Amino acid sequence: MRTIAVMNQKGGCGKTTIAINLSSALSRLDQRVLLVDMDPQAHATVGLGIKSEQLDVTVYELLMDPSARVSDSIVRRGDRLSVIPANTVLSGVEQELAGREGRERKLAEKLTQLEEEAFDLILIDCPPSVGLLTFNALVASDEVLIPIDASFFSMHGLIKLRETLEVIEEELDHRMRVHVVCNNLDTRTRFSKELLAEMKKFHSGALADAYISHTVRLKECAAEGVSIFEIHGTSKASQQFLSLARELVEKAPRVETKELDAWMEKLHGPKKVPEGVLFSLDFPEASSVSVTGEFTDWSMEGIPLERDPEDGLWKVVIGIDPGEYAYQFIVDGIWIRDPGNRDFIRNELGEENSLLVV
Ligand SMILES: Nc1ncnc2c1ncn2[C@@H]1O[C@H](COP(=O)(O)OP(=O)(O)OP(=O)(O)O)[C@@H](O)[C@H]1O
Ligand SMILES: [Mg+2]
Repeated sequence: MRTIAVMNQKGGCGKTTIAINLSSALSRLDQRVLLVDMDPQAHATVGLGIKSEQLDVTVYELLMDPSARVSDSIVRRGDRLSVIPANTVLSGVEQELAGREGRERKLAEKLTQLEEEAFDLILIDCPPSVGLLTFNALVASDEVLIPIDASFFSMHGLIKLRETLEVIEEELDHRMRVHVVCNNLDTRTRFSKELLAEMKKFHSGALADAYISHTVRLKECAAEGVSIFEIHGTSKASQQFLSLARELVEKAPRVETKELDAWMEKLHGPKKVPEGVLFSLDFPEASSVSVTGEFTDWSMEGIPLERDPEDGLWKVVIGIDPGEYAYQFIVDGIWIRDPGNRDFIRNELGEENSLLVV
């Protein structure tokens, strides 16, 4: 199951239009899609003709009420398209969750209630701000789809936006793959052509080949509470959304973000655990392993690691005060840097020691 947040802090660039019509296009490609409306304006909900006032469980309840179940919040909108709707009460979440532990993980936690096979794709429509609701959407997502419209500000805002995403990735310790799609293009104008060329130059890795043209039909559909496929099924816009959907399906990542996160963790060397810092080393042939460093005053014998019978790794947990420490492993008498830790520091002699930050 892939989860994609449709995000851009710039208002009105087409997040909701893309979220609704892309979901619909994906469902026409046999993908089972869940669209989550994370915007208190509830435009995705209304744009698909859903009246959320009568519903007992919306995104708001999912975020606020620990006993609210995802399965009770899902509204079916077609054979393969379902929606978790929003309404205006969602705007209170920011204040109501302020200061609460794990407040940016509420949506992600609730979505884990879904069976892995329940949906192929989850799309999350974000509000036009980088607040708690957007954070919740990003934490729950492996990918981000950024619509940009054909305006000068949108193009230049994109670099800022990608920087913001990087900061968020650092803060949340969570990597996401970025896709960019141009919306509202009028390819007859010089500006639109320049925009596309510029985008290809600077964001080619992330830019979708498909783009969405300007058409009044998309506005009409939103007002009618339907997707483009329901009243203009053969229009150019519907073909463009199908192309975008196909491209996204083809770009399905082979490695899941979760796997990458686990892999990156391995490259971060020692891990903080409740009792201290866990050092581990994968060295099956070794007959003795110890660790030494600034926290042992570089003692020659170091602190011994024991082989864990379960996974065969050499391990030891050491209580260490906060700070930065250089260290090395001693494997059968030979001093080595920690092969599982990318961070290192050079001493006065130019020798490289692994670096631990507690
Ligand atoms: N390709 C398009 N052609 C014509 N109109 C469009 C197109 N894309 C979006 N619009 C219109 O532009 C307006 C803003 O679009 P939309 O609501 O999708 O943006 P948004 O990014 O979700 O806005 P917000 O930031 O408020 O959530 C809407 O009236 C929508 O119908
Ligand atoms: Mg919107």
